[in-house]
Amino acid sequence: MRRLKVGLIGLGMMGKEFAGALARFPHLTDIAVEPELVAICGRRLQPELERWFRSMAPTIELATRDYREVLSHPEIEAVYIAVPHNLHAELYTAAIRSGKHLLGEKPFGIDAEANAVIRAAAAERPELVVRCASQFMFLPGAQRIAQMLDSGEFGRIMEAELGFLHCSDLDPAKPINWKRQAATNGAYGVLGDLGMHTLPLPLRAGWRPVDVRALLADIVSERPDEQGRLQPCDTWDNATLLCDTEAARSSETSEHYRFPVTIRAHRIAPGELNSWYIKVIGTRASAAFSTKEINSLWLLSYEPGRKQAWRWLDLGCESCFPTVSAPSFEFGFSDALLQMWGAFFEEVARRGTPRSRFAGCFTPDETAVGHALFSAALQSQREGRVVAV
Ligand SMILES: NC(=O)c1ccc[n+]([C@@H]2O[C@H](COP(=O)([O-])OP(=O)(O)OC[C@H]3O[C@@H](n4cnc5c(N)ncnc54)[C@H](O)[C@@H]3O)[C@@H](O)[C@H]2O)c1
Repeated sequence: MRRLKVGLIGLGMMGKEFAGALARFPHLTDIAVEPELVAICGRRLQPELERWFRSMAPTIELATRDYREVLSHPEIEAVYIAVPHNLHAELYTAAIRSGKHLLGEKPFGIDAEANAVIRAAAAERPELVVRCASQFMFLPGAQRIAQMLDSGEFGRIMEAELGFLHCSDLDPAKPINWKRQAATNGAYGVLGDLGMHTLPLPLRAGWRPVDVRALLADIVSERPDEQGRLQPCDTWDNATLLCDTEAARSSETSEHYRFPVTIRAHRIAPGELNSWYIKVIGTRASAAFSTKEINSLWLLSYEPGRKQAWRWLDLGCESCFPTVSAPSFEFGFSDALLQMWGAFFEEVARRGTPRSRFAGCFTPDETAVGHALFSAALQSQREGRVVAV
């Protein structure tokens, strides 16, 4: 068993998820690495917060407000960093330059320029495993669709839809936070936030957006701060992208071909609490999965001469990395995070090679395609036309 000392920078929503997942890392039964959380860093490290993290990880030796102390800890091999987008370039490059393997959060740089700076730092240290967090590809429904893509079961893909929908911002009285301000969240708005999560699976499948027509909406333009004063809320709330997309060459389709992909990233989608979905329509089969019905995969395969009917398959918790849970138990959000962190630490142990194509985390080069797409989407919205990616 390879033991690995780990540091955590950013003790907000995702930092807590990370500590919780590491505490139950032994749920993963078939993984030859044992991460141990030894250092935590948060800008607002209050005693109560520190107590909570220590209760999750009694192995913590260092708790600090200065991320440099984590990065200079000689025994720490890997860090997970979950901080606002305007800090990604500074902290991620510092982590890479200090020689730590890095799982950074999406969008992996506040904009394309910051993303290029992070990728350049990673290119200088090819021995390090540098990856971007996005857990949805590890959901059993997404994995099943990935297997179908791998085996060519869909035939020629005719169309696909991907999306991530929230309703939390429907309430205009919801207080503003850094995710609703361009200075800290970035000009992409919802695309850099929810949008990035739609991309790992199609990019890993070899799909490439060729051009995009984007329709972006800023629905709530101001929100109250903590004192109740209205502040500008200058981020895009909802984004709908139509992308002409090129499929990878495969045994099924020897020539390159194109098909439409629709991506929706909405913070204001009434009735949708946290719905990530994918639908793939092919000439031989189709499949649809949404976290709204997390245990269900919808499948349609065509048999000549027979009526077409969608079938509904219960998924259970079969995923890339087996766990102590019985396969019949249903899967959840924190299970997907555990799978993703399992994938990252296994890639560290295996020097960057995932056990299979869809069992690896989002790479810096894949995030670059996301940045190219979202930058083109902003231009498309500005100019009201289709823009090459
Ligand atoms: N994978 C997912 O599903 C998912 C979900 C939500 C957010 N995210 C991403 O995670 C990242 C963080 O988001 P969050 O929701 O946890 O935000 P958050 O606001 O809850 O937490 C961010 C934390 O960073 C801390 N911080 C700020 N500057 C710091 C510094 N210099 N040093 C150390 N700590 C600092 C803040 O005090 C705060 O506690 C973002 O990149 C976001 O896009 C990912």
